[in-house]
Amino acid sequence: MVFRDTRAKIIYKNNEQIEGIRRSSVLAAQTLKVVAPFVKAGVTTQYLNDICKQYMYDNKAKAATLGYHGYPKETCISVNDVICHGIPGKYELRDGDILNIDVTTILDGYFGDTSSMFTVGEVTDHAKKLILSTKECLNIGIRQCYEGNKIGQIGVEIDKYAKSLGYSVVYEFCGHGVGLKFHEEPEVNHSTPEDMGPEMKAGMIFTIEPMINAGKARSKVDKKDNWTARTIDGKLSAQFEHTICVTKTLPFVLTDVDNEYEIPTSVY
Ligand code: MF3
Ligand code: CO
Ligand code: CO
Repeated sequence: MVFRDTRAKIIYKNNEQIEGIRRSSVLAAQTLKVVAPFVKAGVTTQYLNDICKQYMYDNKAKAATLGYHGYPKETCISVNDVICHGIPGKYELRDGDILNIDVTTILDGYFGDTSSMFTVGEVTDHAKKLILSTKECLNIGIRQCYEGNKIGQIGVEIDKYAKSLGYSVVYEFCGHGVGLKFHEEPEVNHSTPEDMGPEMKAGMIFTIEPMINAGKARSKVDKKDNWTARTIDGKLSAQFEHTICVTKTLPFVLTDVDNEYEIPTSVY
């Protein structure tokens, strides 16, 4: 994402902080599970936002996006050609739509950030393939998370894979350190960066959130709301996001509530 303080340093987290960030991350991921059955043709994105909002508040969490640099809602919901930062509103979902719901929770002061794709009714094979490939891009990024590897390698590997399928990788929005604040250092590129950045070290927590476009990589931000980022060519875009903690051994996917990833026994 956009608002980084590049003078800030990477915050390495201790065990207590990691546990707090994990709890917040799990709640964010559970929010996506709770909203999933409500994603149907005819419902508005505002309605889906409000389901998420209620669940976060019922669980004593706050929505990090609300009021963040003036952002007006508790989630981002990005439909079809919207790359990211779609503002929930009056739009009614239709058969064939694909959408990303992005939830960032603040629980006991700790931030957890995750997003996933959803489909409405029957979607095209082209859309299904884009979604599956984008999930694979996230997994490829996660596999790069081990001590001593450069942060930039995440983007190098995602880029290679996405391009091999004829897709493009959004470079104007990035993953980010997260945990004690919403957007911390380091920046996590999803395409090959100019600067490979720092080496990963145990205790680093950041998101990987590749945005993959069916057409061109470029985005344009809506002139009226100043948030909604769309593909320049109107083609589809997909995104998945997890919050990851680097450990001495395996990457620890803090937002994994599906037990999709192996859990390391300890961080340090
Ligand atoms: N959750 C988004 C991310 O993954 C950021 C949304 S910022 C907002 O980084 F202001 F648009 F809400
Ligand atoms: Co994020
Ligand atoms: Co997010």
